[in-house]
Amino acid sequence: MHPATTAVAAGRPKGTGAPLNHPVVLASNFRGEEGEYARTHGTPTWHGLEAAVGALEGGRALAYSTGMAAASATLFALAPKVLVLPSYSYLGVRALVADLEVQRGIEVRSVDIADTAAVLAALPGADVVWMETPTNPTLDVADLPAIGAAAARAGAAMVVDSTFATPVCARPLEDGATVVLHSGTKAIGGHSDLMIGLTVTADDAVYDRLHHARLVNGCTPGALEAFLALRGVRTLPLRMERMQANAADLAGRLASHPAVAEVRYPGFGAMVSFVVAGGAGAADAACRAVELIVPATSLGGVETTMERRQKYAGDAHVPPGLVRMSVGIEHVDDLWADLGAALDRAAAAG
Ligand SMILES: Cc1ncc(COP(=O)(O)O)c(C=O)c1O
Repeated sequence: MHPATTAVAAGRPKGTGAPLNHPVVLASNFRGEEGEYARTHGTPTWHGLEAAVGALEGGRALAYSTGMAAASATLFALAPKVLVLPSYSYLGVRALVADLEVQRGIEVRSVDIADTAAVLAALPGADVVWMETPTNPTLDVADLPAIGAAAARAGAAMVVDSTFATPVCARPLEDGATVVLHSGTKAIGGHSDLMIGLTVTADDAVYDRLHHARLVNGCTPGALEAFLALRGVRTLPLRMERMQANAADLAGRLASHPAVAEVRYPGFGAMVSFVVAGGAGAADAACRAVELIVPATSLGGVETTMERRQKYAGDAHVPPGLVRMSVGIEHVDDLWADLGAALDRAAAAG
């Protein structure tokens, strides 16, 4: 089935009289003799979401309280001693790994994921290669099939944070990923109203280790969040269609705007990063000048948001004028009227 169909059909209760969707099951405890406890066995609401995301990615999914919880559980489950990590990627994951480096003495090899030869050169002796593609916030893209094949030869597990690609634009398990990870807070939820994380794997032993990691760390999702995230999944392909069309259009218009020095757009997905020619001051002015686009962090919602990233200590390495924009489902002409005018004003002020 096509993703648009899977997203609608997967994860529904079965049987005559069943509701079409799993309700919000507010229960920690279930009747039974095998210790049917939510943290151990999950709940019908989580299972519905997990079934749908698993079907979209082609594996078995687990839901967590946040994307960072999914990342923590994955690192706990795979317990790498030598980890290959993108030098430019989501700052939260890099901060987590920096802590593990100090606390557990793991060896971290930082690589530019767009430089496939450098990634392959870092593989010998590594037990986990962590990919994030496209990366947050510079939108670099990894050659997953090449890296996945080399990781398998080297005996390393490949983890792919596919938050920016979403299950609509990529299926990393087919490229050799051992674990695919999502911050469901972003496009999967899609409405900026929840936090949730997901992992997907096609390896039963890895699934068991991830399940154990969630169980002992207790990083389980909320019932309402799981319900809302599955509601988000139902329209994910539809939203992504509009978001991607808008992103491609805006990337083209930005490229010919005189106040923009560089556009970073991988050709798919809903994220566009651009460097404002006037630097940090002009980029901040543009973020202050937008009226329709929301000046805000996070991404993947129906509403377009943008922010300058170098202001965060963890993103100190990105160009000072780099603005990361998450493109929503509004009409693209309204978005451009707002963004183009904000850039004109920022350029005039600079
Ligand atoms: C690529 C990526 N991975 C993981 C996360 C963490 O997700 P959460 O905020 O749901 O914990 C984020 C959050 O921005 C992200 O952008």
